[in-house]
Amino acid sequence: MRIDCGRNKTMRIVEIIIKKRDKAELTQEEIEFFVQGYTGGEIPDYQASALAMAILLNGMTTRETTAMTLAMANSGEVLDLTKVVPNAVDKHSTGGVGDKTSLVVAPTVAACGLPVGKMSGRGLGFSGGTLDKLESIPGFRSDLTPDEFIHQLKRIGVVLTGQSMNLAPADGKLYALRDVTGTVQSIPLIASSIMSKKIAAGAQVVLLDVKVGKGAFMTDLEAARKLARLMVNIGKLCGRKTVAILSDMNQPLGQAVGNSLELQEALETLNGNGPSDFREHCLVASGYLLALGGVARNRIQGRKIAEATLRSGKALAKFRELIKAQGGDIRYVDKPDLLERSKYIAEVVAPRSGYIAEIDARQVGETAVLLGGGRAKKSDPIDYTVGIIVRHKVGDRVNAGETLFNIHANDKGKLTLAKQKILEAHCWSDEPVKPLPLYYGIIS
Ligand code: URA
Repeated sequence: MRIDCGRNKTMRIVEIIIKKRDKAELTQEEIEFFVQGYTGGEIPDYQASALAMAILLNGMTTRETTAMTLAMANSGEVLDLTKVVPNAVDKHSTGGVGDKTSLVVAPTVAACGLPVGKMSGRGLGFSGGTLDKLESIPGFRSDLTPDEFIHQLKRIGVVLTGQSMNLAPADGKLYALRDVTGTVQSIPLIASSIMSKKIAAGAQVVLLDVKVGKGAFMTDLEAARKLARLMVNIGKLCGRKTVAILSDMNQPLGQAVGNSLELQEALETLNGNGPSDFREHCLVASGYLLALGGVARNRIQGRKIAEATLRSGKALAKFRELIKAQGGDIRYVDKPDLLERSKYIAEVVAPRSGYIAEIDARQVGETAVLLGGGRAKKSDPIDYTVGIIVRHKVGDRVNAGETLFNIHANDKGKLTLAKQKILEAHCWSDEPVKPLPLYYGIIS
């Protein structure tokens, strides 16, 4: 395939694939040529897949990754939020299991006076997505136009929308392709995917929550650090205040895994309750954002402000405003019991006494997908009601017969399989086991 690129030069995509296959560094022009050609539909999926696989196997230099990020950000509109609100902030998780943090952090930070304009994603593989959780509220719209995004940000100071706007469309296309071609787990591809969206969405401050562990795309700490460093450097190069926290994803965050169940857990947390690990993670992330956005002197003070805001009910009131502004039925926020429930809710008890040594987060995430809570293909419908409530954490002492987890299912066969998979995800020890840390560090 031969396409004219904007610089009056002709390139051949096959030569770019061969160059990367042979471990050479691509030029900015070659990367722009690929991104423009793929977004425009001139480069077919099979050649884009080949290049993505060559990148996954042979990597990219920082220069190449930065060029890829900018080319993807520039593939659509790039919002300049400085003209809309002073100091808009954004947070992004690299993806995990039970990670409903944005549902609490965005309204908490916005209720503290810092505007949050965020473009969220859907579930990817075994990891859940913020939009799917929000859409379990009937009527909620995640397809705002850029005008709606800007207007809502100005009016109520918080927006959580999808990639429906013409923001980083190249990433939208490439992300879906990577999901089905085994090319998600590439540091330069993840970094450019996330940072292109952050740059296009226009926030001045970006907090990256880089997950590490069995239920994350980065399973080892060194790789997670590398990804975090790369994204922070790209953010800074683009003039955005960018910080990354490295957080644990070896076990699910909080207790709930599954769209509507996670929404309900976020609502419990906004009501001042919720599992302690999840609540703490939300407070820490909010603290960082408040410090970076200049509302707090430092993250410790930021955490205190966030805690007071959560306790006062202002964060919940902001969440209600957000749902209402985006067409959601707020009766479900006020009375989560109204949310549709799955047909079967099974309680599974501990088969033995002992200490929990491991709860394999990836297996829990995959089970939620098996129950129908995620997609095997992009076009698959999603069942909002199904999921798992994991009752204990690594390090807990549990007695035989105590509730270990609950399964919410709409299909008896899947329920049986899910029970077995979640039992297998739990490993036991007769000796005391240290609880897992919430964090492994910060990159700034
Ligand atoms: N999240 C993203 O936005 N992109 C990736 O590639 C992985 C996680």
